[in-house]
Amino acid sequence: VRVAVVFGGRSSEHAISCVSAGSVLTHLDPERFEVIPVGISRDGAWVVGPSDPQQLTISGRELPEVDAAADALVLPGEPGRGLVRLDGDAVGEALAGVDVVFPILHGAFGEDGTIQGLLEMAGVPYVGAGVLASAVGMDKEFAKKLLRAEGIDVADGVVLRPGTDIGFADRDRLGLPLFVKPARAGSSMGVTRVTDPAGLDAAIAQAREHDPKVLVEAAVPGREVECAVLEFPDGSVRASLPAELRYSGEFYDFESKYLDVSELDIPAKLDDEITDSVRWKAITAFRALGVQGLARVDFFVADEGVDGPRITVNEVNTMPGFTPSSAFPKMWAVTGLEYSELLTTLVETALA
Ligand code: DAL
Ligand code: MG
Repeated sequence: VRVAVVFGGRSSEHAISCVSAGSVLTHLDPERFEVIPVGISRDGAWVVGPSDPQQLTISGRELPEVDAAADALVLPGEPGRGLVRLDGDAVGEALAGVDVVFPILHGAFGEDGTIQGLLEMAGVPYVGAGVLASAVGMDKEFAKKLLRAEGIDVADGVVLRPGTDIGFADRDRLGLPLFVKPARAGSSMGVTRVTDPAGLDAAIAQAREHDPKVLVEAAVPGREVECAVLEFPDGSVRASLPAELRYSGEFYDFESKYLDVSELDIPAKLDDEITDSVRWKAITAFRALGVQGLARVDFFVADEGVDGPRITVNEVNTMPGFTPSSAFPKMWAVTGLEYSELLTTLVETALA
């Protein structure tokens, strides 16, 4: 089976996608798959390579990227060089005859239904959610609306459309701290935790650098818990054992996610009843958004709520991180599905 692993892309999560791809390329079973790595540069050029996934790792604080502008034309296997740059025809040749695409792309132009639409048009099977679920999962406004319609609790908040500002009534209701987020972004890019009202305008402006549409949300008390959902080739859907995140920063920001030491408790130390409820809600959220293949559902769990435990969904990620520090593959490993088997399941489900 020929698998094209497509990564990088025109999103603010470009580098994280590269790191996810490095890990996926390392773990795809070479006995089963012929793997073709395909990078997309920040400005949208497609290139084939690298032959060595080690080039797609974080070294110190330096993040990898697809470099299609490199003037040297580097051949596969040449040691110590960046990604191979080939012209469009060569990329076309590499992609011709591909059985399935694994778009390990995070954020805009990858996790948002755009590449999924391209692949639908081309009639190529691909790993993960389709056009609608990808688009909805990427847009926190619409994702929350669909989750709420399914009876799932989400954070209270307001949507600030381009050119609008938050009103006094909403400010009063939401209180402090507030979380200000671009509606469509990931890896905490452009997200600010606001503790002083004087910082709100700057936080909104920062979020708007990523997306003209911004969400201002009330902080949700509770522990941060994640759950991985996976679809199998027979169409069944399972939720992993949940993970609890531990980090040293003010919130689970980009630094805590990829650069600092943060820890995952897997399985999360929760009462059995809460664990079951989290897993059930993860599958409910997956279905509410019409997701296929996989998703990581992120929660806040407050076990001391007034009327029992309060389980709030923060968001649904339709192409969660696969970096060495990412929770999705780790949760499945603890649930009994090793990384390579997990990848095989994803590809086989895409082909089923
Ligand atoms: N958006 C990042 C990659 C995640 O959800 O893991
Ligand atoms: Mg996210």
